[in-house]
Amino acid sequence: MHICKTISEFRKFRCSLTESKIIFVPTMGALHEGHGSLVQMARQLAGSNGVVAASIFVNPTQFGPNEDFHKYPRPFEQDLANLSRWQADVVFSPSPEEMYPVGTSTSIDPGPLGDSLDGAIRPGHFRGVCTVVAKLLGIVEPTAMILGQKDFQQQRILRQMAMDLNMPVEVITAPTMREPDGVAMSSRNRYLSPDQRARAGAIYQALCRAQDQYRSGMRESAVLQAGMIEQITQAGLEVQYALACHAETLVPYTETAGTPCVLLVAARLGTTRLIDNLLIS
Ligand code: PAJ
Repeated sequence: MHICKTISEFRKFRCSLTESKIIFVPTMGALHEGHGSLVQMARQLAGSNGVVAASIFVNPTQFGPNEDFHKYPRPFEQDLANLSRWQADVVFSPSPEEMYPVGTSTSIDPGPLGDSLDGAIRPGHFRGVCTVVAKLLGIVEPTAMILGQKDFQQQRILRQMAMDLNMPVEVITAPTMREPDGVAMSSRNRYLSPDQRARAGAIYQALCRAQDQYRSGMRESAVLQAGMIEQITQAGLEVQYALACHAETLVPYTETAGTPCVLLVAARLGTTRLIDNLLIS
């Protein structure tokens, strides 16, 4: 597995490739089996001749001033061992100075999809995500990029960005990997105390119950939302949002528009913020 720490090192590696298929998985490291599923999917799509590229970069521009940028876990050697186990071919892990040299001034506006949900709670977050992913795509130049459904709004915004800016990359969304009790795998789960970890399952339970209600014919988003809020609050979590939205536009769900419905939750357990979602099929 090649490890490139600078843009010029990566470009040199990129130029040496004869194979045109490059599947890219961007990450912030602190890798778990959820990331593993994306890299393994990339391996499958790339085949034995194609190239699987992953990035590890804790992107400062997507963290708010009071968020966990400095305490975000950075177990670099363990991450490399995992990426090698999942059969990545190359890892790009630049420093913040490499990605944002003094004088950097351009950023990408995520548009209205970035205004609601996490965009409302974390101002500037999706501008930071769009900007870093656009930069990574400009460096890696992959044929496809794999994103997790776990960050539903993120994959929706990045898919729109690639389309609107005519980026020559296919955007693929991969399913959410969960722990045995249903909790979505996340690098932030390691912040939870055993007691908090035990209560985190309420988010997925509430999503599943709302999905059951939907499948039995309930289409009033207010009812679906109230049920989720009650169940998650009862487990001692502080709900930031629990919404039924249109999967395409991310506006509150109304039956008439006929697009798929996604249930989205963000909740806090102490100082840890967890998000999860279910796309209702
Ligand atoms: P990070 O949180 O490290 O996630 C990297 C990728 O892994 C994202 O596409 C995310 O949706 C996916 N992922 C996380 N948990 C998952 C799970 N349980 N199952 C499946 N996929 C999962 O998301 C980011 O980093 C950053 O915002 C990034 C896109 C790298 C830009 O900095």
